Amino acid sequence: MDTVRKWRIGVIGCGAWGPNHVRNFSALSNAEVVGAADLQPDRLARVKAIVPGIATFTDADAMMAITKPDAVVVSTPTMTHFDVVRQALSSGKHVLCEKPLCLTGQEADALVAMADERGLRLMVGHVFMFNPGILKLKELVSNGDLGSRIYYLFARRTNLGPIRQDVNAVLDLASHDVSIYNFLLDAVPTKVSAVGQAFLQPGIQDVAVITLTYPGGIIGSIHVSWLDPRKVREITVVGDRRMAMWDDLATLGPVMVFDKGVTKKPREYSDFGEFQLLTREGDVTVPRVPPAEPLRMQAQAFIEALEAPETLRSDGRVGAQVVRVLAAINESMARGGAPIAINSPEGR
Ligand SMILES: NC(=O)c1ccc[n+]([C@@H]2O[C@H](COP(=O)([O-])OP(=O)(O)OC[C@H]3O[C@@H](n4cnc5c(N)ncnc54)[C@H](O)[C@@H]3O)[C@@H](O)[C@H]2O)c1
Repeated sequence: MDTVRKWRIGVIGCGAWGPNHVRNFSALSNAEVVGAADLQPDRLARVKAIVPGIATFTDADAMMAITKPDAVVVSTPTMTHFDVVRQALSSGKHVLCEKPLCLTGQEADALVAMADERGLRLMVGHVFMFNPGILKLKELVSNGDLGSRIYYLFARRTNLGPIRQDVNAVLDLASHDVSIYNFLLDAVPTKVSAVGQAFLQPGIQDVAVITLTYPGGIIGSIHVSWLDPRKVREITVVGDRRMAMWDDLATLGPVMVFDKGVTKKPREYSDFGEFQLLTREGDVTVPRVPPAEPLRMQAQAFIEALEAPETLRSDGRVGAQVVRVLAAINESMARGGAPIAINSPEGR
């Protein structure tokens, strides 16, 4: 009889989010959470309630040395990711790091190189790449259901709080939308332009309005804010044949497809190549999207990648691309909205 291998997982950082990783990995039949670490001992109580008997530590190195996990999840504040991930990789652990991977493209490249040299998996928790609604949107875009050309995307990710003190709303919130856009379009933007303001804390932008230009002139617009009256998690994708909307908070279903568009019709009796623009208003459909917890799907995908490296999605390179875009957005905000080319010295 085959016995299922249980991958040993350690979780580093057990604040607001880390315990969700503990819960999701514990629920998988081929994983067990063997240890957890947090600098603050009181934070470990929640983890003990989820996995009774789990070994807990205030030092990540001690957790890795004593519980000997195969892989660790890094769910510490973003500013610490580079050091914590580097330490985990140098201890020979596969890593699933929360988004964003780190702060600069150079740091990201260094982590990717370290993982490659050691034959370790490095995955970044761009959890929306595992969200069933976003996967449906991806299917619609890839199958050409929205048309042969995507014109633009528009995202809103707003709420009143949670307000972070370590990173701005771009790193915290727009990291999601950038990862979604890159995933949907299978591309990275060529340039970005953004304005933002730090109203509540000096130097930490609460609000940003971002414009990304993708190859082919596709526009990606993003509005993020933790200083807004309404919780909104929406993306609109406009193609040359149909349009779609994703709303993570919708009760009917997360995706709506609008059979709407504009057709160019040559004008009759005109020799000058003139045409009419006719709007078309067809049905609105709500495709079936099977419910699933994205973080669970992400945990499952990580374990799958431990077993079969070629299945790794949202890997370190994907994470590095997102980091470069975020760095360019921050640079543009610092320069009053100036366009920044990705991969330019400024955008690194
Ligand atoms: N995917 C998502 O939707 C999502 C949601 C929330 C947070 N996150 C990400 O998760 C990460 C953590 O966010 P959070 O809200 O839980 O933050 P948090 O501040 O609530 O928790 C972070 C914890 O890490 C601990 N810590 C810091 N340095 C450490 C170290 N070297 N070793 C061990 N523990 C250490 C802190 O004591 C703290 O308890 C961030 O990167 C954030 O972007 C992702």
